[in-house]
Amino acid sequence: MKQISFADLLGQETKRDPVAFAAHLREQGPLLPLMAPFGFGTGAWMTTTYEDAVAVLKDPRFVKDTLKFGQAEHEQTSSDEREDIFKRFLAFRRDMLTVDPPDHTRLRGLVSRAFTPRMIEQLRPRIQQIADELLEAVQRSGRMDLIADFAFPLPITVISEMLGIPVEDRLQFRAWSQTIIANSVGSQPQEALAALEAFVQYIKAFLVAKRAHPADDLTSALVEAEEGGDRLHENELISTIFLLIVAGHETTVNLIGNGMLALLLHPGQMELLRQNSSLLPSAIEELLRYTAPVTLSTPRWASEDIVMHGQVIRKGEMVFVSLVAADIDQHQFTDPQVLDITRRENQHLAFGKGIHYCLGAPLARLEGQIAISTLLQRLPNLRLACEPEQLMWNPSPILRGLTSLPVNF
Ligand code: HEM
Repeated sequence: MKQISFADLLGQETKRDPVAFAAHLREQGPLLPLMAPFGFGTGAWMTTTYEDAVAVLKDPRFVKDTLKFGQAEHEQTSSDEREDIFKRFLAFRRDMLTVDPPDHTRLRGLVSRAFTPRMIEQLRPRIQQIADELLEAVQRSGRMDLIADFAFPLPITVISEMLGIPVEDRLQFRAWSQTIIANSVGSQPQEALAALEAFVQYIKAFLVAKRAHPADDLTSALVEAEEGGDRLHENELISTIFLLIVAGHETTVNLIGNGMLALLLHPGQMELLRQNSSLLPSAIEELLRYTAPVTLSTPRWASEDIVMHGQVIRKGEMVFVSLVAADIDQHQFTDPQVLDITRRENQHLAFGKGIHYCLGAPLARLEGQIAISTLLQRLPNLRLACEPEQLMWNPSPILRGLTSLPVNF
């Protein structure tokens, strides 16, 4: 069986046509050996079916906490500089996405109330206002970069406002998080670490200011939980803010960008949606499935030897779930390679599954709906301003997003 490498997952061709790439992966088998990233001495695996994706994401034997488990073993296996940097990165992360119950339950519980569909629905007028203002700024020029002018500023403004972070700093976050994403598996991991350290320093200074001047925002509520006793440690607080900022904007930008590109390339579907706003919820679900804003899960580690498809996944080995491959599994979806915004049976895994199911899903759905419906209604002549082959994709094995999307209207 050919070993898949991370380089295979981040190539431009892979990004351009994820459905074709996922079909190619699925042809090779349900469980593929993956060259462990960052020079890790351990083995790594990737699942490609819907059934296995659900099984792994719901199986408590696949754990996330590398401090509790696994890291000591990794430490003995390699002195690779990139591995060292990745370990320092993992050691910094103490948020819900990198721990297991009971810590996971506690950390997720502290912020989950702010993300319920009911709480998120209250943000609707403000999100609509942001979308309108962004389009008003470009409307007269007749063209824009749909990523830089719209898909990026919308979610970063929303999450910054929820956290009470000065919106002027958003370009700086974007630069740091892009450096972290691009270089942590690339050739210059020290740049990723430097960006992470700068980001952490920024969050620390921001927390000092929040402690001095608490406000009605999510950060102040978290600071209160930390000061109130043993519910939240300081590194957990910093890591949680980091997670919310990164997850809050690096993903939804891709739903809006990839989603609009898919509609531009399927004008019949775009017109159908423009004429029928009642299709908006099912269209967003289909764009989540078909355009894979997040293509791969974050890693899990086997806490014991686990047999899958006759193959032993050894204790301490990493497992990734290909969400994009699961979401085109013909055993789960009818005509999975077809974009159909009227699709009814659509239990896609774009937001994951199990206890780490995306906390921000209600927010991402609302932002996606408002963004795409506002673009379609306000810009009836929207069209691509370049050949699709000229579009470039960000180099990340986990996220699928365009560097820019030039359009005319
Ligand atoms: C977790 C996808 C938007 C916050 C996840 C996971 C996926 C995902 C696949 C699970 C990863 C895993 O199990 O390895 C997406 C997509 C989004 C999106 C496709 C947009 C289209 C957001 C937004 C937020 C957010 C707007 C808001 C802050 C989180 C958090 C987790 C998470 C906090 C960790 C949950 C936990 O560990 O319990 N997301 N996400 N996401 N997402 Fe999202």
